[in-house]
Amino acid sequence: MQQRITLTSLYKMKEKGEKIVEITAYDYPFAKITDESGVHVILVGDSLGMVVQGESSTLPVTMDEMIYHTRIVSKAVKHAMVIGDMPFMSYQADISAAIANAGRFLKEAGASAVKLEGGASVSRLIKAITEASIPVQAHIGLTPQSVHQMGGYKVQRDEERLLADALEVEAAGAFSVVLEGIPPDIAQKITNALKIPTIGIGAGPHCDGQVLVIHDLLGLRDGHVAKFVKKYADIRTQAADAVKAYVSEVQSGDFPAKEHCY
Ligand code: KIV
Repeated sequence: MQQRITLTSLYKMKEKGEKIVEITAYDYPFAKITDESGVHVILVGDSLGMVVQGESSTLPVTMDEMIYHTRIVSKAVKHAMVIGDMPFMSYQADISAAIANAGRFLKEAGASAVKLEGGASVSRLIKAITEASIPVQAHIGLTPQSVHQMGGYKVQRDEERLLADALEVEAAGAFSVVLEGIPPDIAQKITNALKIPTIGIGAGPHCDGQVLVIHDLLGLRDGHVAKFVKKYADIRTQAADAVKAYVSEVQSGDFPAKEHCY
């Protein structure tokens, strides 16, 4: 049987130059598929808001919704590390609320770590949460919870600031850091400068690992997808074709056939 992925496994992978594979999941069936397919980390992302709940940003997602989805994902996962994503305003306003909310992901939802967005500005929160024995994955660069402050979902290119943010979150105790929407050469410099693994999304090939939103890589979303996404399947078209065939067969009387009857 495969061992459970721990922080130590991820540190060793960075040391050996083995790529870390992270993916999002929000429910039991996809969590089971991703875990059984060999990913190392399953993130219950607050991208939930956009890919499952039909919101136009991640901002409306609540703590209770994140706990519900993280709990059902955790039930399915035997091998990967499960990380719960702290939603907007569950950590920014108050340090003790941040610790309590992070704790809920471990206590009520079966996660073994949390993720939160921000660099130097949240390093005191990362320190407080890790001191409460809750591992934290940081997330810098394009941070979707700051969409209004960034003026949209924009690639981040301020090398000095990005490097400073990365070093600060590492010093605060983060066990890894997501680099989102960063040019590959900057992501490479950050990856070389840090002891902890970097996980890229729209940050090029030099990161210690990659993360993608499962709905993007399976082709489950309609509308615009980001340049960094590779669609490994077109499940949306397949699902629509299957449902159309069902509609047509019910209407024609071809379904149910003899073999579907008792
Ligand atoms: O919410 C999310 O899914 C994320 C990943 C894209 C890193 O933050």
